[in-house]
Amino acid sequence: MAVTFPKGFYWGGATAANQIEGAWNVGGRGPSVDDHFLGGSITTPRMITRDIDPARFYPNHDGIDFYHRYKEDIALFAEMGFNMFRLSISWSRIFPNGDDEKPNEAGLAFYDNAFDELAKYGIEPLVTLSHYEMPYHLVEKYNGWESRELIGLFERYCQTVFERYQHKVRYWLTFNEINCGTMDMGNLFETSMIRGFEGPASESHTTMQQRYQALHHQFVASARVVRYAHEHYPQFKMGNMDCFVLTYPGTCDPGDQLANLTEMRRMNWYCSDVQVRGAYPSYAARFWRENGIELQVEDGDLADIAAGTVDFYTFSYYMSGVVGTHGVEQATGNMSMGGRNPYLKSTDWGWQIDPEGLRIALNQIYDRYQIPLMVVENGMGALDEVSPDGSIHDQYRIDYLRSHVRAMGEAVDDGVDLMGYTWWGPIDLVSAGTGEMRKRYGFIYVDKHDDGSGTYERRRKESFFAYQKIIKSNGAEGLE
Ligand code: BG6
Repeated sequence: MAVTFPKGFYWGGATAANQIEGAWNVGGRGPSVDDHFLGGSITTPRMITRDIDPARFYPNHDGIDFYHRYKEDIALFAEMGFNMFRLSISWSRIFPNGDDEKPNEAGLAFYDNAFDELAKYGIEPLVTLSHYEMPYHLVEKYNGWESRELIGLFERYCQTVFERYQHKVRYWLTFNEINCGTMDMGNLFETSMIRGFEGPASESHTTMQQRYQALHHQFVASARVVRYAHEHYPQFKMGNMDCFVLTYPGTCDPGDQLANLTEMRRMNWYCSDVQVRGAYPSYAARFWRENGIELQVEDGDLADIAAGTVDFYTFSYYMSGVVGTHGVEQATGNMSMGGRNPYLKSTDWGWQIDPEGLRIALNQIYDRYQIPLMVVENGMGALDEVSPDGSIHDQYRIDYLRSHVRAMGEAVDDGVDLMGYTWWGPIDLVSAGTGEMRKRYGFIYVDKHDDGSGTYERRRKESFFAYQKIIKSNGAEGLE
């Protein structure tokens, strides 16, 4: 049976400033944490350097040069039929050091231009306020979100961009994949607690105490910003953003069921329970106690959290995992990882492909929260080959896209209130996890390579036309 999507459904793509813009030191922008990461691979972790070494290649410095090519890229998005584009604002383009007295006018003007260009084609922007970056100065001065000082600085940055773009942007997300802050690896980008660190990213560690305290600061910051937006700009819709990694119990052993319940709460529910319901969940106290976490909560924090709940829930979905007590083999991912599932195939980078899991996730999330949902990241990183005639046949990506769109259609039929879908990386971009270009997500190919070579030329892949067909028919065609 054909699946159907609601009228006015948002179809588009999602990106992050640090992975596309480049122009890292242009127009008054200050260095962000990502500018200190070298490129890596599936087997070699990205290296972090404290000082920027001009002799080395930092992939985020140039990204895919969206900063200079945004008009061409937005025209291609419009050609595919997008009515939504998710992008993030680079905090260090607005406040180069994060604690500057005045915002940087050239940075503000860049996003004005980008939003105007989107408006020309009737594309609605969905803006992430913090997508895996912060001004590097705040890392060195405060150790990122470990410090409460970040709350006020983040509020000021958000208030600045709200005021400036109030007539151009309606949909906002506070922190990208906030729940990755629960993981040791989350300290790299999500909470940026890497003060003074140099070396392979895999060797930078934090304690659970640090991570959950940093998350508390982010919850308060997010809630204050959401409340401020609601009070000053009633036209705004404010969302959270979680990395949803659905996990299955390894067996029907009750021990596995319990292990999975615990993992689902830690990874998938803890942060959104706070941001959607406005309070720490009932299972939090025991979790903190058993893990030696003693949260420093100041007067007013819990009231702030209660007053700043989000209007819609958004998430990324790439893969599912398995949790069990009977020896589960580990599958790879970046922030999303989990046990291997023998029933699933994987991408070139080992991420398990599970479209049915997306339907399950959508149902579980909607059952729990009953607010509108949006899938704001979903996609597959793959090795693409350019044929001698210049074409790129990426049937694997088309299959991935179709199966996940079908799964969303089924979830809509199940009764889930789904607002939209933004594919991760509609145009090839720098991978967050590995820093690679060869791990390509796009419907649009970018001639840029891991040694820094390339012309930046853009090229439509076969999947470009497949997505165009799906969008044109609002999901009624192009899924076969
Ligand atoms: C998500 C992030 O974790 O996954 C993106 O929000 C990231 O920033 C995406 O790029 C895909 O992961 P990766 O590591 O393949 O770039």
